[in-house]
Amino acid sequence: MKTQSIFIAGTDTGIGKTIVTGLMAEFFLRCGYKIITQKWIQTGIDSDIDEHIRLMKKNRKNLIQHVSLMCPYHFQFPSSPHLAASIEKRTISKEKIKQSFWTLKKDFESILVEATGGILVPLSGSLFMIDIVKELSLPVVLVAGNKLGTINHTLLSIEALKKRKIRILGIIFNNLEKKTDLRILEDNPVILNKITGEKILGVLPWTKDINLLYRKFIPIGNKLDKHISQ
Ligand SMILES: Nc1ncnc2c1ncn2[C@@H]1O[C@H](COP(=O)(O)OP(=O)(O)OP(=O)(O)O)[C@@H](O)[C@H]1O
Ligand SMILES: [Mg+2]
Repeated sequence: MKTQSIFIAGTDTGIGKTIVTGLMAEFFLRCGYKIITQKWIQTGIDSDIDEHIRLMKKNRKNLIQHVSLMCPYHFQFPSSPHLAASIEKRTISKEKIKQSFWTLKKDFESILVEATGGILVPLSGSLFMIDIVKELSLPVVLVAGNKLGTINHTLLSIEALKKRKIRILGIIFNNLEKKTDLRILEDNPVILNKITGEKILGVLPWTKDINLLYRKFIPIGNKLDKHISQ
């Protein structure tokens, strides 16, 4: 059985893509797939791939020959990639990113790529990250930060993906705020499914207990497994 790679996109920055990517990687590892993650462009001091590695319960030392390919670009300034790169007087090469993907693909069955920011994040004045997703024919799982404003953000994200004929595997709702009213949390997935017809893969609760989050992810992982196994 061959496993497809997936691009994990989000409705915004800071809505739970890293957590979802790490949980997904852990799930598929436990299924027996040879999986690795990528974050094509990291900005700021955080390292999302280190968080993926932690969630996958892997030892960074054992991935040492792959780490630079997992994150081909890391810029210090926490901003959109186009600005972070320009501050360091560097440009982002689409070919370098695609090459990092194909090189990793030689050693792994499937790559889970975490997006930087939301869908229409620019890498320069003429290139979006989503253009590379399209060129690599990656299907997308959309992570929606479940809060007030999510309906609009999710609809716009789906429109942008559909316009580019990018396959959407489904939407994962992530309850990343404790304070959001339950009526909003419960209605967002329902109304978005009604309007778009897109599959709702599941809802992750607000919790700092990563084991609980993993248990809640299992039914989501099972749905994705059916989609991505060829
Ligand atoms: N379900 C949740 N329950 C509690 N806290 C959460 C949940 N999901 C995410 N968080 C917290 O929200 C913050 C943002 O999450 P995360 O880093 O996964 O977002 P992101 O979309 O990857 O951000 P970026 O755009 O910077 O990559 C983190 O501190 C994370 O621990
Ligand atoms: Mg992240």
